[in-house]
Amino acid sequence: MKDNPTILGIETSCDETSAAVLRGDELLSNVISSQIEIHRRFGGVVPEIASRNHLTAILPVIDEALEKACVSKSDIDAIAVTYGAGLVGALLVGVSAAKALGYALGVPVYAVNHIEAHIAANYISTPKLEPPFLAVVASGGHSGVARVDGRNEFRMLVSTSDDAIGEAFDKAARALGLPYPGGPEIDKRAKLGKPVIEFTDRRKKHSELSYSGLKTAVVNYLHTLEQRGESPVVEDVCASFQRTAVDMLVGFATAAIDETGIKTVVAAGGVSANSYLREKLAAEAKQRGAECYFPPMSLCTDNAAMICARARDMIKGGVPPAGLDLNAVSYLKIKGGEE
Ligand code: KG4
Ligand code: ZN
Repeated sequence: MKDNPTILGIETSCDETSAAVLRGDELLSNVISSQIEIHRRFGGVVPEIASRNHLTAILPVIDEALEKACVSKSDIDAIAVTYGAGLVGALLVGVSAAKALGYALGVPVYAVNHIEAHIAANYISTPKLEPPFLAVVASGGHSGVARVDGRNEFRMLVSTSDDAIGEAFDKAARALGLPYPGGPEIDKRAKLGKPVIEFTDRRKKHSELSYSGLKTAVVNYLHTLEQRGESPVVEDVCASFQRTAVDMLVGFATAAIDETGIKTVVAAGGVSANSYLREKLAAEAKQRGAECYFPPMSLCTDNAAMICARARDMIKGGVPPAGLDLNAVSYLKIKGGEE
């Protein structure tokens, strides 16, 4: 493999069909076709509909990514694809396209772990970033704090024991009657409210990262008001929920800084687009003399640029490519081990 291979990345794990081209350190294109509008009327992602829409979008999106990058298929040295975690039917569309294209072009296909890729997005936005560092993982399917000791060495230090933080944002938003995806809606409204409501989960141990109790606390609060014939101040509910959800995760991140002595922290995943999370994590890191980096919004939520970035390190590190028997995996731990 060349030193600066041209990598075509493909991402179809949930409701975004994305393809990107990375050559060496240079991101040549990153095309994202979102299905959010399609799923919004159902209040969430409908897996079967997601798969069908990936099927129609995948080839045009790949063509557009190549065209924007001014790269032809014969210039591609490697293909990178998300094989998990995510919705199996949705993942299969990307995995099948990658395998077919890899076979036809005679180039290797690299199987990328979606969460490792969210972390690797930071290498694009912060080129000077090098391990060791801590990564605050905050997405729709995963939450926790990871330790990154090498370009291909990831280890979760803390993981949620139930729901992911993004899932909690989406469920709380749904209970408030806000549209899908709830995270950006709560973020927007929280700016206009005050965090005056205590959403505590009495069952929760302080040593545990958990979001299902917080979601239930919001639902119970809204039910109680309804029974009394009162209406919630939506902005205050948003601000209060957001503060509790983010402070919990940032609390584990700051504990990890203190325990490991690692002074570099990055954020990864869709919820790292949250304005309060960015503010709070940056402030806590600064207080501890730690550097803190966030990907730009376009690299926070699902995108194929991060898939290319992850594959570039796999190639450099000698990780072998996948075979034609590569399959989609819905549950995947950070080190690539299946649950
Ligand atoms: O990483 P991502 O795009 O997909 C997964 O890998 O799961 O994350 C999607 C999640 C959704 O739950 C969405 O509501 C949340 O990210 N999200 C946000 C914000 N933007 C996206 N949550 C809070 N504040 C935001 N600004
Ligand atoms: Zn994601």
